[in-house]
Amino acid sequence: MNTETNDLSGLVALVTGATSGIGRASARVLARAGADVIIHGRDAARAAAVVAELEAAGAKASFIAGDLSSASEARRVAIEAGVVDILVNNAGQSIWGPTGDFDPADVDAMYSTNIRAPFIVSSVIAPAMAERGRGSIINVGSMAGAIGLQNGAAYGATKAALAAMTRSWAVEYADFGVRVNTVAPGPVYTKPGSRGLYDSLGGTTILKRAAEPDEIAQTILFLASPASSYLTGTTIAADGGRTAI
Ligand SMILES: NC(=O)c1ccc[n+]([C@@H]2O[C@H](COP(=O)([O-])OP(=O)(O)OC[C@H]3O[C@@H](n4cnc5c(N)ncnc54)[C@H](OP(=O)(O)O)[C@@H]3O)[C@@H](O)[C@H]2O)c1
Repeated sequence: MNTETNDLSGLVALVTGATSGIGRASARVLARAGADVIIHGRDAARAAAVVAELEAAGAKASFIAGDLSSASEARRVAIEAGVVDILVNNAGQSIWGPTGDFDPADVDAMYSTNIRAPFIVSSVIAPAMAERGRGSIINVGSMAGAIGLQNGAAYGATKAALAAMTRSWAVEYADFGVRVNTVAPGPVYTKPGSRGLYDSLGGTTILKRAAEPDEIAQTILFLASPASSYLTGTTIAADGGRTAI
């Protein structure tokens, strides 16, 4: 095995939530490494812009729309994607607030998008990868799954659950050539207009700053490529050292 490469030519990557933020940056980085990329999201206009950008750069790209808060939609998206070698379970939402005032509907919303959807999508794609004898699944978690953050109980619980699923899938699919890992970002500049919020969260990290989406995408590329051939079942903290302190 050539581990000194991150050449993904000939491989197909499905990135959920690739119409913005970390997912969009990951789609760009995976495409630059040679993968054909399936962009997933809900916003068709932003998706079209990402597809056009990747195609202009010489990559093969397509779009599948679907609302992952629906179990049947999540399943349809995974089936429609067809053969997938790299799955990035990135789509997610975070709702923050004091527990006493927290709307249980928001717990359900995060549960369905952050946990149930990656479970359903992976339940279609991982067995198919196993049948072909290869694949890499990268789940996008969060430092909120590992440390206590003010107002983040429900969101953090969803990301801790995703890391737990990662470990179980790593065991379940290891014998079939499929690796499963999590990248757990710290604060990442993704929402336009919220730079100040990320700056203050970034100030709590060892590196004293938030990340650009590309910095998380590079970790995702590493986990997708043969360069990470001996990694499975793990969580890489791409968080400026926040969970180290
Ligand atoms: N930004 C951070 O500081 C940070 C830190 C740690 C972890 N994360 C995690 O990183 C991942 C990406 O976050 P981001 O900050 O890049 O977010 P973002 O810019 O808001 O993008 C979220 C993406 O997920 C898609 N999405 C959200 N809910 C969906 C649903 N129900 N069905 C289908 N697609 C859905 C969105 O699609 P449309 O817009 O097309 O609907 C969009 O493409 C999330 O899992 C998040 O929890 C983010």
